[in-house]
Amino acid sequence: MKRYFLILISLLFIFGCKDHKEKAVMEKDISKDIHSYAQPAEAVVQHLSLNLDVDFDSKIIHGIAVYQIDKSEGADSIIFDTRDLDIKRVLVGGKEVEFTLKAPGPHMGSALKIPVTSSADKVSIHYVTSPQAGALQWLNPQQTAGKTDPFLFTQSQAILARTWIPIQDSPGIRFTYEAKVKVPEGLMALMSAENPTEINEDGLYSFKMEQPIPSYLMALAVGNLQFAPLGDRAGVYAEPELIEKAAWEFAEVEDMIRIAEELYGPYRWGRYDMIVLPPSFPFGGMENPRLTFATPTIIAEDRSLTSLIAHELAHSWSGNLVTNATWNDFWLNEGFTVYFEYRIMEALNGKDYSEMLAALSLQDLKKAVASFIDEGKDKDTRLMLDLSGRDPDEGVSSIAYDKGYFFLRYLENLVGREKWDAFLKQYFEAHAFQVMDTKRFLAYLKAGLFEKNGIEYPEKEIQEWIFESGLPESLPTPDSDRFDKVDQALNNWLKGTPATEIDTTEWSTHEWLHFLRNLPDQMNIEQMNELDKAFGFTATNNAEILDAWFIHTIRHQYAPAYAKMDSFLVNTGRRKFLTPLYTEMAKTEKGKVMAEEIYLKARPNYHYVSVHTIDKVLKWQERNPE
Ligand code: BES
Ligand code: ZN
Repeated sequence: MKRYFLILISLLFIFGCKDHKEKAVMEKDISKDIHSYAQPAEAVVQHLSLNLDVDFDSKIIHGIAVYQIDKSEGADSIIFDTRDLDIKRVLVGGKEVEFTLKAPGPHMGSALKIPVTSSADKVSIHYVTSPQAGALQWLNPQQTAGKTDPFLFTQSQAILARTWIPIQDSPGIRFTYEAKVKVPEGLMALMSAENPTEINEDGLYSFKMEQPIPSYLMALAVGNLQFAPLGDRAGVYAEPELIEKAAWEFAEVEDMIRIAEELYGPYRWGRYDMIVLPPSFPFGGMENPRLTFATPTIIAEDRSLTSLIAHELAHSWSGNLVTNATWNDFWLNEGFTVYFEYRIMEALNGKDYSEMLAALSLQDLKKAVASFIDEGKDKDTRLMLDLSGRDPDEGVSSIAYDKGYFFLRYLENLVGREKWDAFLKQYFEAHAFQVMDTKRFLAYLKAGLFEKNGIEYPEKEIQEWIFESGLPESLPTPDSDRFDKVDQALNNWLKGTPATEIDTTEWSTHEWLHFLRNLPDQMNIEQMNELDKAFGFTATNNAEILDAWFIHTIRHQYAPAYAKMDSFLVNTGRRKFLTPLYTEMAKTEKGKVMAEEIYLKARPNYHYVSVHTIDKVLKWQERNPE
């Protein structure tokens, strides 16, 4: 009898603790995030109620963040990440407590340590952001399309959420949220959540995100915005001046969602909307859940740059649903997403289209690998990164995206598309709303793809892909007929065929990019003139084509394009465009002078992440110490 009683007690104990035990095991299993001060095994957030008051005049947000927390037994404090936040007061279970704010570390900010008691599960933090908050860009009316109202947007990835919310800023920690946001009358506020579609004249908005998300997906945009539906579950927000063009450009989005679901399972976030931001947005796109943030530079008026939407949509699975555990595993977010993006584009526009994207990726990848090796940063060409002591922004390169893509394409080639797709679908299903790190992915891959199908696991090759520098021998090669034709045309031109006689009627933006990227390093002014006259490069408003053309403009000192390049650089803040242009200018003394002149005007228009990068390219701080 006594024995049975003991067994019963132990069983009760085991089942009672199941949730906690499982959690503890999972947490131990997952790599420690070196870019957050949080100690989730001690105390972790579960739900956030956020109250924000957005003040454009002083460029600050007054906030109250109320967290529901979960503590392990014996935990006596909870730690949040903050950076440049002024913490006014902290309450635990309704009572004011004394907190400590550690001295800030480079890029990491300050740990906010709050004492907790065993009974309290609610922590309220009253705070104010700094006008210099890294995530926030405050735009004056002149920097918008309408020129009449100010605009604000956030960019939280990778570790900038902590500059506008005290938060456990680690991709491995998920929470649900609701928010109340007050903005100036007449403006609309939107978040990575359930959103309004109309301006609320009193400037008060409520939001709700019911699926648990990591902090880097916290997002807010405020401006004079309009909504246009694009089907039952998709739509686009933009300033009134842009809304019609945006709605036309993104009309394929419902097809993309359908294709994505057919490939890798249901879309789990309810609606999928997009917002077109002002041109200073530092990225092409950002996968904020339910509301992708996008640069206006993808509005080419011919739908030729919409693969970016496919990319951000794909993150609704790779990244937002199955999330990289730390920024060292960033390739799990971006490599999967590029792969998924190209599959969506293949289904939408055909293989000849997606192979152009893949070929451009290979060009980017080879260039990135060469330049990392040139700088002595061989290790940064590994898929699995080591970002300890560094800003995770340094991990944002073609390696995670394109080497990641080619690794997955290599796996697909090995086992065949059918088995590969079944594996991926299962992968997203099995790990939905969970984190993944490289080691666990490899174990899952080995069991779920290779052993399951009785295929030998290519241990050595896979180790090489993930843990070694450079490009593996098993790197797949894209095969693009459409680019072969461009190569031929380019050759003919170089051999003397006049540019006007080249048949480019069928060329899309991608063919033009391939053409421009493969022009010879040495050209004379007559050749530049001939190309410009025949193809109207300087006159185009396609930002991708302009960007590729301006490289030659700089290299060959092609003065007729200077004015256009100047205004492009002053108005566009997308880092992917800025970095190569400023880098090219910085190669010569004359170019440096030009770069300085432009940057002086442009810098105030750029978001913190672009400023941070271009300052380094131009060694700005050395000459302009603050
Ligand atoms: N999530 C990224 C942007 C990002 C990455 C911001 C890391 C901050 C840190 C987004 O999904 C992205 O990859 N954007 C690309 C799109 C492109 C690959 C189609 C961009 O902005 O260029
Ligand atoms: Zn991405």
